Amino acid sequence: MKAAILVESLTGNTWHAAEKVADLLAQERWSITGLSKVKQPDYGSIQEADLVLVGTWVHGAFVFGQAPWAMSNIANLPAMRGKRAVGFCTFALDPGKALDKLDRALGDTGAYVIGGMALSRSKLDRHSEIFAERLLDAVALT
Ligand SMILES: Cc1cc2nc3c(=O)[nH]c(=O)nc-3n(C[C@H](O)[C@H](O)[C@H](O)COP(=O)(O)O)c2cc1C
Repeated sequence: MKAAILVESLTGNTWHAAEKVADLLAQERWSITGLSKVKQPDYGSIQEADLVLVGTWVHGAFVFGQAPWAMSNIANLPAMRGKRAVGFCTFALDPGKALDKLDRALGDTGAYVIGGMALSRSKLDRHSEIFAERLLDAVALT
């Protein structure tokens, strides 16, 4: 499986999670075609990939109005018809419906979206491991 990873991160949590997930997938012989910013995506890495992971952080008023940050950049990603995409976001308290919103934005690129995960910043490593395990299972089933 070839996977590209795109990340939006303000204070480093989402980037850290992306690196951890990339390492775990690489250990299972996935090829990571690139790890780049959602704002400045490595287009070649997306083109090469079967699956595109998009990670961002949750922005809102902590108990309402939560949304994935950089939605406009996600909406501007190239068309990804024929590829699979999966979203993940990191949060502090409550992600609300941020992951659903991220999934919808990814679906608008034409990609087939598989279920993503909201990762708590206080359990970042453990949640990154669970997310990587879920991805491995999801891909093994299809
Ligand atoms: C302005 C601002 C708003 C935030 N709003 C929320 C929120 O509504 N809900 C939540 O759970 N976390 C919220 N957070 C916390 C971040 O989502 C969390 O710290 C995340 O892991 C940051 O990711 P990063 O380090 O990749 O930038 C907010 C953080 C900031 C700076």
